[in-house]
Amino acid sequence: MRTITIAIDGYSSTGKSTVARQLADWLDYLYVDSGAMYRAVTLFALRKGLISETDFNKEALIETLSAIELEFRKNSEGKSEIHLNGENVEKQIRTLEVSEHVSPVATVPEVRRKLVKLQHAIGENKGVVMDGRDIGTVVFPNAELKIFMNASAKVRAQRRYEELLERGDSITFQEVLDNVTERDHIDTHREDSPLVKAKDAIEIDNTETNIEDQFHIILQLAKDRIAGRI
Ligand code: CDP
Repeated sequence: MRTITIAIDGYSSTGKSTVARQLADWLDYLYVDSGAMYRAVTLFALRKGLISETDFNKEALIETLSAIELEFRKNSEGKSEIHLNGENVEKQIRTLEVSEHVSPVATVPEVRRKLVKLQHAIGENKGVVMDGRDIGTVVFPNAELKIFMNASAKVRAQRRYEELLERGDSITFQEVLDNVTERDHIDTHREDSPLVKAKDAIEIDNTETNIEDQFHIILQLAKDRIAGRI
């Protein structure tokens, strides 16, 4: 059976990583969360004091990029988790603070070049499901299956709000909604690799679809592509 590359792009909090992980498990493919990489670079910049409420020292971040080493390692349950210079930061990168600063960091071409290079290296042997914003357009433009995910901003913010509450974060729904809409704006308007649906991507709006149904729809598409039926 042939192995393919699956690219899942879309707006923030559309459940890309949930379905990407489910697909990778089912197909026994590698799952790569490219957003986790941008989040880890942002966490690094925050820790180094390169980002404050009012300022983002881009030049200093670019200068220290070579000091950032990222790696995905599987935990005891087989779940892939991101490590920043050897430290597991999977939980630390999911805070609202990181979410509030990640999109400006992701506009920096030097950051994108470094991460795209790593994404190519990880995914070069196919058998990979990668989710993000530019996977089907820039990272793997020849991916055999491209999915573009969307849902209403309110539904997306509600899902992310519940996730953060479950983790014990103290935030309001409005803060999450503002973050989701602001990131969408920056991600779609940046000059380098903006979020845009690839011409050959299949769009899925999951405003009213549950996780299970969505998984079955996308799995069927993947099986058809692998078998060369569509
Ligand atoms: O999970 P969520 O939809 O909140 O976002 P994410 O996938 O963790 O990505 C966080 C941020 O990283 C996005 O809002 C983008 O600014 C950036 N990103 C990107 O520019 N390119 C990618 N391939 C993945 C993420």
